[in-house]
Amino acid sequence: MQIAPFAVEEWMNRYETQARCNIAETCVDSISLDELLALCQQPRQAFLDQLAKRPLTYGDIVGSPEYLEGVCSLYRTIQPQNILSTHGAAGANHLLFYSLIEPGDRVISVTPTYQQLYSIPSSFGAEVVLLPLRPEEGWLPNLDALRRLAADGAKMICINNPNNPTGALMEDSLLEQIVEIARSAGAYLLCDEVYRGLNQDGSKTASVADLYEKGISIGSMSKVFSMAGLRLGWIATRDKAALDACLSHRDYSLISCGMLDEQIAALALANKEKLLERNIALIRENLRILLDWAAEDPHFSLLPPKAGTTALVQYDLAPESVDFCRGLLEQAGVLVVPGDCFGQKKSFRIGYACAADVLRDGLRLLSAYARTV
Ligand SMILES: Cc1ncc(COP(=O)(O)O)c(C=O)c1O
Repeated sequence: MQIAPFAVEEWMNRYETQARCNIAETCVDSISLDELLALCQQPRQAFLDQLAKRPLTYGDIVGSPEYLEGVCSLYRTIQPQNILSTHGAAGANHLLFYSLIEPGDRVISVTPTYQQLYSIPSSFGAEVVLLPLRPEEGWLPNLDALRRLAADGAKMICINNPNNPTGALMEDSLLEQIVEIARSAGAYLLCDEVYRGLNQDGSKTASVADLYEKGISIGSMSKVFSMAGLRLGWIATRDKAALDACLSHRDYSLISCGMLDEQIAALALANKEKLLERNIALIRENLRILLDWAAEDPHFSLLPPKAGTTALVQYDLAPESVDFCRGLLEQAGVLVVPGDCFGQKKSFRIGYACAADVLRDGLRLLSAYARTV
């Protein structure tokens, strides 16, 4: 099966270990099990003893009841039977396209976004139509353009909210209009929501799984909850036939997720307010650092992100983005991701939810490097 190279993941695979200062990471500063237990005020020894005694079975095939209950608490209408546990959101997106998309199906996807949303359906033989997001429209979808594309018949519309890489946020009223477009086309609405919950103003944004009977929400423990190492994500949808298709296909590739991972995730989700408090405070402080830096350095500009952990920074220097970012890594040890990995020229994606000191160092080195190119 042919598939386009996954530009952002290939970049990270190749350079991540060489970075002295990584400001490309998209998770909110990852936490250890010890930090989680302290945050949740769980007695460490009792938790570990109990974990160590559990027979290492496949666990609950669709996900443990405690974990599913925790995931449900992130939605308004979703029940445990509406969720399927997966190997990260990466696994969820893949499984979803694998289960629902056939050759010739029309899939609409926004761009820039996480490349899975268009390259996987394309590899399955779908006719993929891209809907460009533009800075002059706040990186938000143009509804007239979407309506026109969907009217020609679409099996699925793919969006990403909040958006990676821009940090744009579709508010509920915009989401409701997109739902109406999907509904008139009879299309599934897939929303990659791995950054949902990280709004700068602390507000909460609706999930398409709550708004629409054919809405499919993809979530994950990686970004919002700082636990990418659990490799846990999920598909949430009230469309029973779609979820059944995913389970049937998942039997061939996954069987179940790790039972110990799910136990840790269940603890984190039961204490989600504490984790969110930590993580929202961090993205707020760090966004201030990022915006202050951009205001000071005339070479760089960005549309302030409203949510999530990433921003697309534009620059006015000569090198194209891959050369610019490679030079930055080689000369200053700082890792960011070239805008060209997202089809965006003269720009790079920054992940600003790392430790504040790392961000400050990275930005200082970036400015010094910019003076040399
Ligand atoms: C929009 C988006 N979806 C999915 C993923 C994959 O996340 P996970 O670690 O849950 O597999 C990422 C990771 O960067 C992402 O940015």
